[in-house]
Amino acid sequence: LDGIAYGGDYNPEQWPREVWDEDVRLMREAGVTMVSIGIFSWGLLEIREGEFDFAWLDDIIALLHENGIAVDLGTPTASPPAWFFAQYPEARTVTKDGVPMGFGARGMVSHSAPEYRAAIARIAGALAERYGDHPAVVLWHIHNEYGVPVGEDFSPHSVRAWRLWLQAKYGEIAGLNAAWGTAFWGQHYEEWDHVGAPAAAPSTINPAQKLDWARFTDEMLRECFRIEKAAIRQHASQPITTNFMANQHHGVDLWAWADEVDIVSDDHYLWAADEEGEIGLAIAADLSRSVGAGKPWILMEHSTSAVNWQPRNVAKRPGEMTRNSLSHLGRGADGILFFQWRAGRSGAEKFHSAMLPHAGTESRVFREVVDLGAKLGRLAEVQGSRVEADVAVLWDFESFWAQDLEWRPSEDVSHDERIRAFYERLWRDDITVDFALPGHDLSRYRLVVVPSQYLLTAADAANLTAYVAQGGTLVVSFFSAVVDENDAVHPGGYGAVLADALGVRVEEHLPLREGHVTGIRVDDHVFAADIWQEDLVVTTADVRATYTAGPAEGRPAVTRNVHGDGVGWYISTRPDADGLRAIMREVYADAGVDVPGTPDGVETIVRRGADSDYLVAINHGTEQVSLTTTGTDLLTQADVRDTLVLAGGDVAVVRLAHTAHRGDR
Ligand code: GLA
Repeated sequence: LDGIAYGGDYNPEQWPREVWDEDVRLMREAGVTMVSIGIFSWGLLEIREGEFDFAWLDDIIALLHENGIAVDLGTPTASPPAWFFAQYPEARTVTKDGVPMGFGARGMVSHSAPEYRAAIARIAGALAERYGDHPAVVLWHIHNEYGVPVGEDFSPHSVRAWRLWLQAKYGEIAGLNAAWGTAFWGQHYEEWDHVGAPAAAPSTINPAQKLDWARFTDEMLRECFRIEKAAIRQHASQPITTNFMANQHHGVDLWAWADEVDIVSDDHYLWAADEEGEIGLAIAADLSRSVGAGKPWILMEHSTSAVNWQPRNVAKRPGEMTRNSLSHLGRGADGILFFQWRAGRSGAEKFHSAMLPHAGTESRVFREVVDLGAKLGRLAEVQGSRVEADVAVLWDFESFWAQDLEWRPSEDVSHDERIRAFYERLWRDDITVDFALPGHDLSRYRLVVVPSQYLLTAADAANLTAYVAQGGTLVVSFFSAVVDENDAVHPGGYGAVLADALGVRVEEHLPLREGHVTGIRVDDHVFAADIWQEDLVVTTADVRATYTAGPAEGRPAVTRNVHGDGVGWYISTRPDADGLRAIMREVYADAGVDVPGTPDGVETIVRRGADSDYLVAINHGTEQVSLTTTGTDLLTQADVRDTLVLAGGDVAVVRLAHTAHRGDR
């Protein structure tokens, strides 16, 4: 598409035909350029096995096309029809407790059932054969949110596939015994057929087994994606995507998935209980861009206002939807879409907001939808521009999977929470962040943050150590580099694989009791710190903060180590926000990262284009602010000379008069 795609999921099959004409008329009024259709309509497209009814889909695609609205065509495989389960009851997914899932929801199917795999190839192929040449269809949308609501499957089909997967991975059963450490509790295996899924068990299941199970589940889902992709590719050449859930579901490894799609797309919903949801949103947007190697991506779903599936579904306030949309766009999205176009009258999602709400066009939401469409229409030239960052935060799904297993030193330690804490610091300092894997080439970053990455392989640790030696600044948070890829503690002890970079040894973990707040002294200031301390032995590092209380009182808490041309920082506790700010100020100085001094609550990001750079500015606060910049505000066409005045809650996109310097935000 030329310009920023705008639209949403559209479910015409839920409405009588007379509504369709009104829909497309209002879509045009709202500036909609693309809708996603067919995502959940398998039962209405293949009404009996092998018997297709494409008439209604032909009609709606034609109507959309006549009205200049492009189609992102879904494959409906996230919700197999009733006939499928009646015919193949053994293809149902089974829970950890052995319960087969019933019909009437979505999901419900075993990713490994051969009948399911045959059926998805058939429906995806039939759709591609029919619409592969249709000029309206610009994108294929395979399935919906892989891994949700069903990821893990404990059915007999899945267990069979699991054993084959393990045999392919380990070759000999001795390899499995070694990797899983099965000498523990006498779990030793002689036969592949004796290896089961980690289903319900009386005590904690072998964590290495569960880690492999997470990898297996992820790969089975990806195999299903590939089956559909191959079926589509036989007939169609449009780009293919599937909608991710960055930062909301950690069950699939988005780095691996991004390699499979032609363009990354993501669904993001604010978590209503989080009063600063814009920070979680920014994490999701930056992760979506990062997994796709920085290429523009599509925000496939978000909400105009409230969702319907949280305990308390808080409605968005005026302007919030626009701020959310611009934040995604600033962070690299070239498409802004919603779930969904028209609010559904029936079914489980009738209380979910939509572009066209139950209240109709005479509503704040619809007026804002029309306004957003007009705004995005003025931003066409931003399409294709890129975001560059000087700072990377590590994000490794394997480490999430491992750390989320049972029997860890403290349930208070969370990979998610540490990512959010460091990201939040960087967000408040208005510093743009990429996410990265520890094995990536990190040399273009001035600063790399390792937020409690529990699983870190020796090879990845060597990569991080080389990054420091070559001049990088690394910040490592406690409970990092504890285990290898088999969830086995590294020889030499916790963090030993980073000992050269950090200049410390972790002798013992010292988790704190619930509510026990201790302190760290940084220069003359004492900051609160909780949940965790460590007994650190300093080898080559300098001590930058010491514990003022708690089991490690008087001992090192934060260290700084010069290694080669770079610096490795270690933070062995959870400092409060002020403490982290004080430490990060020193870290930024080491890394040569500038803090732009943007007013509080204002988010700015630069997108760099072939001809121009664009400053996207979002004021989340209620007060008017001024930013220093020069160019043209694309939303108002106003000349901006030195000062951009941004009212409370407002947004601006400025085509900069001068090329931004690398590192400008
Ligand atoms: C998900 C799904 C959609 C819809 C929305 C509601 O993202 O992909 O089908 O259920 O949630 O928020």
